[in-house]
Amino acid sequence: MLPSPPTIGLRLGLAAIVAALCGAAQAGRAPGVAAIAAAHPLAIAAGEEALGAGGNAFDAAVAISATLAVVEPYASGLGGGAFWLLHRAEDGRDVFIDARETAPGAARPDMYLDAQGKVVPGLSLDGPLAAGIPGEPAGLVHIAERYGRLPLARTLAPAIRIAEQGVPVHTRMQLGLRFRQSAARNSPAFMAVFYPGGEVPTPGALIRQPDLAKTLRRLAEQGFDGFYRGPTATRLVAGVRAAGGIWSAEDLASYKVIERDPVRGVYRGVTVISAPLPSAGGIGLVNMLNILDGFDLATLDGATRKHVVIEAMRRAYRDRALYLGDPAFSPPPIEQLLHPFYAAGQRASIRLDRATPSAALPAGPSDGSEGRDTTHFSVLDRDGNRVAGTLSINTWYGAAFMPPGTGVVLNNEMDDFTVREGVANWFELIGSTANIIEPGKRMLSSMSPTFLESERGVAILGTPGGSRIITMVLLAGLAWIDGADAETMVSLKRYHHQFLPDTVAYEEGALTAGEISQLEARGHKLSLSPRAFGNMNVVTWDYANGKVEAAMDPRGRAEGRVY
Ligand code: DON
Repeated sequence: MLPSPPTIGLRLGLAAIVAALCGAAQAGRAPGVAAIAAAHPLAIAAGEEALGAGGNAFDAAVAISATLAVVEPYASGLGGGAFWLLHRAEDGRDVFIDARETAPGAARPDMYLDAQGKVVPGLSLDGPLAAGIPGEPAGLVHIAERYGRLPLARTLAPAIRIAEQGVPVHTRMQLGLRFRQSAARNSPAFMAVFYPGGEVPTPGALIRQPDLAKTLRRLAEQGFDGFYRGPTATRLVAGVRAAGGIWSAEDLASYKVIERDPVRGVYRGVTVISAPLPSAGGIGLVNMLNILDGFDLATLDGATRKHVVIEAMRRAYRDRALYLGDPAFSPPPIEQLLHPFYAAGQRASIRLDRATPSAALPAGPSDGSEGRDTTHFSVLDRDGNRVAGTLSINTWYGAAFMPPGTGVVLNNEMDDFTVREGVANWFELIGSTANIIEPGKRMLSSMSPTFLESERGVAILGTPGGSRIITMVLLAGLAWIDGADAETMVSLKRYHHQFLPDTVAYEEGALTAGEISQLEARGHKLSLSPRAFGNMNVVTWDYANGKVEAAMDPRGRAEGRVY
């Protein structure tokens, strides 16, 4: 059992304020209430604590992100990267904070290949060679310094406290530890924290992370230098190199957070604001919506509607594979990909009566799970500031490696690069030279923290789920545009196509028996997923009635609150 968040008094107090302010909510476009949706109650409590201490949504985002690092060590953390999409109410500015990992300076395009040019299984997934240079700590400092009101010592306090006192093991934490047990054996420091007595811990057992608490403290006290220079950096580099990794002190000291303009699009009067490169999310989302804009989805029967959505997914993911990567290294044709004329061309190749075989679409690279490992949260504060944050160490427990004396679980985000052209990665994604490994480059991502804005109100959304993130955000977005509430968005059954493999993966219940036979008759190959997709966390604000809702994916274990 998870302990209940320690801020009950605060929540009750704020609940009263909700009642008082709800009526005036939309006046001046400030909601007057705050809401948080995140994947763990202790992270929500940390966000509440920051808001209660006079912080804004950005302070809450820092507190939530840092706490998630402690309570979901399998999903995100200081050893990983993050994207935060921010909306500042006072001037209406939307900004995308890119704290994605970078390839170390000694990284090479063929670093995961053997002498015959074949991919060495596991090399881009397990151990320190799989780890990019972390960006999340720099991102936390950046947000706190530029957008927050509170010092890091205040916003990181809950994470430090929980790391010291311990977090009770929950089922997902345990499942992940079982899954990563063999890789973890190569990291005694990781084993010592997460496998007390050498065994997978049982639910309820306390996991204490004293080294992580010290690392967080140094970050709180010294900002960027507290992680990227000095004792933490020295230990990170020493631990990585001793175990065969290639990080250098310079890699850490030169890490830079990048502020980017989000990708924007308009679909049926709804403004979509989403992740730019190095995420494929915003481009994919806007491209799919542009394709769908030429159909009157409401008038189509269920099977036909899903058919055209699948065909839009197929085309957008083809372009992801073909063109996308870090824009600093290979400038992609972004304007073209986002242009309605381009989408019109893609749309023209869609037949209503037949699936387009992916192989029939020109010139894709030769060949080509669900999401618990990575995490998304959404925050809205009373003034209307918003954050959509998606944070990751890639797959469960990242590289399953911890440099001794740091408490930091390293990511295995290097697997998001094209390790070899045409060879599928963990998420069965393929890529082109646009996403090959180069020193200092950011690996292509699917993480898609997104805002939707219309006359109806605002939705703040995102999810983990690897390659399926973008299509999950699409389906939830389409539902909101059709009038769905936050709960419906997160509960929606999901389906997905990513160009290759040329298969529609779907959750139980996403397609009716009739839709299955009609889609198969069109030539779609369908594959029922044995596992659920994603762990979406959504906050919505409806201008007409002032209602603010936080909804957590029933697939996760979260409980959310509006207060
Ligand atoms: O950046 C990406 O697209 C991936 N590293 C995200 C991984 C993820 O969502 C894992 N969850 N299944």
